[in-house]
Amino acid sequence: MNAAADLKSYIRDIPDFPKPGIMFRDITPLLASAGAFRSAIDRLADQYRDARIDVIVAAEARGFIFAAPLALALGAGFVPIRKPGKLPFDKHSFNYELEYGSDTLEMHVDGLQAGQRVLVIDDLLATGGTVRACAQLVERCGGTIVGCAFAIELLALNGRKIIEPYEVFSLLQY
Ligand code: PRP
Ligand code: ADE
Repeated sequence: MNAAADLKSYIRDIPDFPKPGIMFRDITPLLASAGAFRSAIDRLADQYRDARIDVIVAAEARGFIFAAPLALALGAGFVPIRKPGKLPFDKHSFNYELEYGSDTLEMHVDGLQAGQRVLVIDDLLATGGTVRACAQLVERCGGTIVGCAFAIELLALNGRKIIEPYEVFSLLQY
């Protein structure tokens, strides 16, 4: 079995969650497996090992799960993007659409230094609304986006399109 097929066996499909018509790709079995979680982080790190990433940026909550170990693996910092009302210091805000709703994300104004090389991470790319919001926040802070990486990409929603021209990498495609 190849590595992608093996990792895919740790993703659980839940029909009609959280709304009718949504096929939820549940990463919790992958996270619960030490080997599968390690393999996912190693494969993401391999992709960016020579990319001179200064900072990994990710949105809560599921993005954090992949971002923190990846930051350590790449010798990069980690800057959190949070849902409203959570960050204590001055922040930028951005409103965005989800596959099943809308939300706002926030990032500290001093989260990045101008010119820092940034990798945006999330567990899953659906419509691309979340990662686009993250990218907008990074750009407002003067960061340079090297790429956007995901454990899972839902191809039918074509999230890549709305974050052009950023480079996109995903471990597993559906
Ligand atoms: C999920 C997922 C991604 C986003 C992808 O987050 O973790 O961040 O949706 O969808 P998009 O490409 O259409 O924006 P969610 O907002 O459900 O929050 P959570 O991480 O707190 O579960
Ligand atoms: N976030 C947005 N769409 C999702 C899906 N289909 N499965 C898991 N997380 C998601």
